[in-house]
Amino acid sequence: MTKRLYIETVGCQMNVLDSEMVVASLRRRGFELSRDLDSADVLLFNTCSVREQAENKTYSALGRLRSFKQKNPDKIIGVMGCMAQKDQKLVFDRAPFVDLVVGPGQLAKIPDLLEEIAAGKGKQLAVGLGRTAGSADEIRRSHETFDPLRDPSMRPTPFQAYLRIQIGCDKFCTYCVVPNTRGPEQGRPPEQIIEEARLLADQGCKEIILLGQTVNSYKYRDPSGKTTRLSDLLAQLHEIAGLKRLKFVTNYPKDMTDDLLQAVRDLPKCSPYLHVPAQSGSNTMLKRMKRGYTIEEYREMFGRIKATLPDAAVTSDFIVGFCGETDEDFQLTYDLVAECRFKNSFIFKYSERPGTKAADLMPDDVPHDVKQWRNNELLELQNRISEEENQRLLGQRVEVLVEGPSEHAKKEHGEALLEQSNPVQLVGRTPCDRIVVFDGNPRLTGEIVPLAIYEIAPHTLFGAVVTGYVGPASLSVLGA
Ligand code: SAH
Ligand code: SF4
Ligand code: F3S
Repeated sequence: MTKRLYIETVGCQMNVLDSEMVVASLRRRGFELSRDLDSADVLLFNTCSVREQAENKTYSALGRLRSFKQKNPDKIIGVMGCMAQKDQKLVFDRAPFVDLVVGPGQLAKIPDLLEEIAAGKGKQLAVGLGRTAGSADEIRRSHETFDPLRDPSMRPTPFQAYLRIQIGCDKFCTYCVVPNTRGPEQGRPPEQIIEEARLLADQGCKEIILLGQTVNSYKYRDPSGKTTRLSDLLAQLHEIAGLKRLKFVTNYPKDMTDDLLQAVRDLPKCSPYLHVPAQSGSNTMLKRMKRGYTIEEYREMFGRIKATLPDAAVTSDFIVGFCGETDEDFQLTYDLVAECRFKNSFIFKYSERPGTKAADLMPDDVPHDVKQWRNNELLELQNRISEEENQRLLGQRVEVLVEGPSEHAKKEHGEALLEQSNPVQLVGRTPCDRIVVFDGNPRLTGEIVPLAIYEIAPHTLFGAVVTGYVGPASLSVLGA
């Protein structure tokens, strides 16, 4: 009998990819995806612990299932991902109706654990070892990469896919839970990565986004002693004919080596888009965060990016209100954003995370309203810069990978969308990761199309298909 699976995912790209794998593995056991809770037999929540708010949201979503489970005792409720690893048994204490708790390093066990629960064997827990709970090898093995299967239907679009090249993190920034929830940094063997990329290309994938918490720290040493770096991997992936674009996130500033920047410059499929979070502009904060670089070193790295890739779009993350952050420290962050003119920045208010060095050793002493004010100030500056930088694209020609109809077009046309012969509103993405809205035939979805930009907003560009472009296989762009 077909069983039905409902899955909800929060958190970063790693979680999106993990959910794709879990769905693929459960399909092999006869599951089908369900869009609503009521018709599902198994409900999985893929969770994030990076900030307290993310956890609170998950616990309230779970809380709403209390009476649902009372009415439907046979339905299985599972919590997977980083919060499962961090809270472990505590999840059962806070949400006693949960049947299954599985950390990100143990996801391959989910199909078997669900069968045990269905067979009446009670609640199941599978988590990786803590960072000091065994030998280095035992700890590594308990945080296994889970990348055996791919399920195109789970991707935002079938022609874009994430590909994990590295799991875990060893940087131990003092504020961050990730080294605990995802375990030690481990690079996947290059042969596996290339094989998976070929499979994705065969499935029609044109853009691959390589994933790692510190993706540019990737190194794999094979038994003969040969080392593969990210730049080597990009060169090998570049050979795969079906692939048209390669991106990678997230970069660690200290590991932004020249060989990598040169690879991005010299390999046309590599997008000149680099997410390199600075986190703060103050050396006092960077030291307290244990980021491993000074702001002078960050500037030097930023200068090398601009020297090698003058048109690169560089983006960053910032934490405001970290322990002991003064107005002067914040001003230094503000000055850095003004100076570097990032294409975009994600700005977060510091959230104390149990089990981290900062939580153990440093008081979370910046009042909430001060964090909020700094967040707003920095966001306002960044939005202004994003809009000004977008202005430079006015009148320019860009090539977008068409992701499909916009939300607006989907609402307007519903199911009949793909049969539309008139142009509809489509969304595409430039190599620099800018979103462009334009009118065109919905069948352009998945194609790379030239557009002229005629209007801009801080986070969106508006374009028109370049006159003379006739589309793939003589498909008329304007839909006739
Ligand atoms: N590995 C990546 C991203 C990790 S989490 C990196 O090193 O850049 C994504 C972002 O969340 C981080 O860049 C950081 O800006 C933010 N973040 C992490 N822990 C946080 C915390 N405790 N409070 C607020 N923001 C946090
Ligand atoms: Fe967290 Fe730092 Fe690792 Fe990024 S590099 S995942 S911020 S510990
Ligand atoms: Fe969240 Fe885990 Fe990603 S804590 S940000 S889901 S690695």
